[in-house]
Amino acid sequence: MSNYTLFKTFIEIIFIFLENTSILKYKKFMKHELPKLDYAKNALSPIMSEETLDLHHGKHHQTYITKLNEFIEGTEMKDNTLDEIILKSSKDQKMAGLFNNASQHWNHNLFWKCMKPNGGGAMPPKLEKRIISDFGDVETFKKKFKEAGVTQFGSGWCWLSIHEGKLVVTKTANAANPLIDGMKPILGCDVWEHSYYIDYRNKRPEYLDKFVENLINWEFVESLLD
Ligand code: FE2
Repeated sequence: MSNYTLFKTFIEIIFIFLENTSILKYKKFMKHELPKLDYAKNALSPIMSEETLDLHHGKHHQTYITKLNEFIEGTEMKDNTLDEIILKSSKDQKMAGLFNNASQHWNHNLFWKCMKPNGGGAMPPKLEKRIISDFGDVETFKKKFKEAGVTQFGSGWCWLSIHEGKLVVTKTANAANPLIDGMKPILGCDVWEHSYYIDYRNKRPEYLDKFVENLINWEFVESLLD
């Protein structure tokens, strides 16, 4: 092996070491990361535009994650799951900042999964049966869900959750979610203005109508039934 080859190999080893060290540092700091969408950013258009998804997923959701990582860095919370962080921080007003960012990360993770291109339409049979059992019929459920979103004053979310074995519709303000009230959310719709203002301006009822009829991934919602 020539001196040149030896030198080249040495330099390559140094680069690999530095690269791995940087990656490890990055991974350690970025405990929570932005999930990839299951669809292209233009795939929900025109119901939800590429511009909205670009800002909502790439900027708003990413900011919640960046702040969450900053809050937990160097604290005991860094080893907790996201659910544990939400439940712990929800009980202490001094941790409101951490709670808001952790809960918004959780909420948006569910929200992206609850949508798909050409969504809406008929529910799969198992989910439809549960909806009819707990709400009387599908249209009554849809009306309650949309009303919850429309009547949420200011920023927040509307939800379909499992509570003590039954499906319930609720709404929450700002970052809060039904987990902290002992429920299991299986469908969530973001009614913060950043979710609809580009595409619907102030028409939140129209956004909710389109979300329910044209975006919901009912198969995913059904998969969360216990
Ligand atoms: Fe949002």
